[in-house]
This record gives sequence, structure tokens and C-alpha cells, in this order.
Amino acid sequence: MTVDLLKLVEYGGCSAKIPAKQLEEILKFLPLPSDPNILVDIDTHDDAGVYRINDELALVLTTDFFPPVCSDPYEFGQIAAANSISDVYAMGGDPVLALNIVMFPAKGLPLSAYADMLKGGFDKATEAGVRIIGGHTIDDTPPKYGLAVVGFVHPERIATNAGAHPGDKLILTKPVGTGIIMAAQRMGIAAEPDIEEAKRLMKLLNKSGAEVMKKYNIRGATDITGFGLAGHALKMARASKVSINLELGCVPLIGKAYSLVDEGCIPGASFRNLEYCENEISLAPGLDYNLKMLAFDAQTSGGLLISVPEEKTEALLSDLHSAGLESATVVGEALAMDSKHLHLS
Ligand code: CO
Ligand code: CO
Repeated sequence: MTVDLLKLVEYGGCSAKIPAKQLEEILKFLPLPSDPNILVDIDTHDDAGVYRINDELALVLTTDFFPPVCSDPYEFGQIAAANSISDVYAMGGDPVLALNIVMFPAKGLPLSAYADMLKGGFDKATEAGVRIIGGHTIDDTPPKYGLAVVGFVHPERIATNAGAHPGDKLILTKPVGTGIIMAAQRMGIAAEPDIEEAKRLMKLLNKSGAEVMKKYNIRGATDITGFGLAGHALKMARASKVSINLELGCVPLIGKAYSLVDEGCIPGASFRNLEYCENEISLAPGLDYNLKMLAFDAQTSGGLLISVPEEKTEALLSDLHSAGLESATVVGEALAMDSKHLHLS
């Protein structure tokens, strides 16, 4: 029996995140633990927490899981694992160990789909050099899958949302549009090559991008997932106390993502992301509507957004291209803080 995971979900991948606005309302009532060894916590809305063990070593801890973003269980496993591991790369760390987090409808789907999903996760983790050493599964519909990942980082070489400085260029390592393309697939209006390209990008580890980032001692970075390029840029601007200008015309897009907006294909998550940012953004007069909505498109396993001192930009970019990230490009810059944290032009 062929399993089509997409038939089981309303929205999958990082689009299934609780809207950022609601999440922040809840999180502000949670007291943050205080411990001098906690180097990064949710205060800066970073991709992972970081805990100092000694002067040479800190642990990077993160977890992500979500409902299916594609039909095939093996591919879903690969994407979920690549996405979970990405948060360690975004912090400048080396992912080392992981645990599976699984929700699976034991009666609703053949167990072979469960096995395929885990195999996809295992293969992707192996590619990243990550050993999966355990996990936990509960019976639940629809299925959800992801990892809790532990990585290592030198305490003085952590990259965070707070590391962007005025004058830095912002480089994005993968094109945008996975949310729109996968929504279009459900509507039956996505072109097959675009679906394949979106899946290839979601499966692509941020490992090579992170290696280049380390070579240039980058301290400001994040990865683009559920809150979209603009949402994650805003989190970076806030944590770094700068303004960020995104030049939307420079943002690389997957296939026909732009024209799919004309066909009314805008996932609900894009509007929620826009609403979350609304009070902190300024839009250039006459800003292209499609580009604006794509900037808020929820990405699953999106690229790294790297804040680079201007003088290193060209060399870093050419290293990214040599590493196979051919669409990596400058999409904006960090500026001294002005009236808004985020400018879209
Ligand atoms: Co992240
Ligand atoms: Co995450």
C-alpha cells in the first residue's frame, strides 16, 4: 500500500508552528532559569539553548518536530531530521547526538511507513555525523516527527541572533518558497520540477553553509524556518538591537513561487507571520505584494541567514558558491537602530 502522508494533515512542516505572537504571550510568563553557565536561552529567541561545560566546550540543545510536509515517509524523515539538526548549525555548533521524537498513528498507517520515516531520519542524521541514540514514540494522528539534538560549540565561538552589527551584509544560503510550493502541491497547481526542487532544498543540510560561516568567525546567524525570512530577520534585529533592511528583489525564489501568489496560493502561516511583525516593520512605498508575502512564507528546513562584516562578504559568498550553495546571495543589511527594526524594500 502506498502511503500519502499529505492526505493526513491540514498543514505540515514548520507552518504548523504556534503563531509567534501567541507563543511570546505565553513565554513571557515563564521564569527563565538563571545560571552563569547558560550562555544562550530563549531571551534572544535563538535557535537553540547553549550551556557552558568548561572554557573549551559548551552544549547546544535544540528540538523541532512537525507533521508531514511531503507525501513520502522516507523523504519526510529526511526533511524533519535536516530541519532539527539545522538549529545547531545556525548556532555555529557541531551536531553530535540526537533522540527521535515521534507521533505515529499505529492503527491508521502501516508500520512500514513508521520504519521508512525513521530510516529517512537516520540516514540524514548519519550524513550530518549525528548518532541517534534513542527516542520516544506515542500513538497519535496525524504523524509528527523530529529530533532533539545535542551539539558542541566553543563557548567563545557561538553564533546567535544577537551578533549582527550595523554595516553587516545579510547573506541567505537557500532560496525561499517551500511553504508556497508545498501548499500549491495540495491545491494541485504546483509544477513537478518545483516540488522536487523544494524537497531537495528541505533535505539539504545546512552543514556546508555552517562550515563556511565558521571559517569566517561569524557571530551573527540564524536559520529560516516557520516565521519566514522576514520573521527571523526581525528576531535577529531585535536581539542585535539594530534595524535590518531586506531588499526583497534580491531574495532568491524557488521556481514559480512568485506567480503562485497571483493564483491565490498564500498559506495561512504567511498572514500570521505578517501580523506578528506588523508593528515593527516599515514597507517601502509601492512594495511588490508577491515579494512581501514570500518574505513571510513559512520555510521548512530553510537556509541560514548570516550577518557578515562587509569586508568579508565577497570571499564568504564565493566560498558558499563553491560549497554547492549556488543561490546564496546578499539579501539585505544591518543598520543602526532607527524607528523600526525591519525595513522591507
Ligand atoms: Co531555527
Ligand atoms: Co527550531
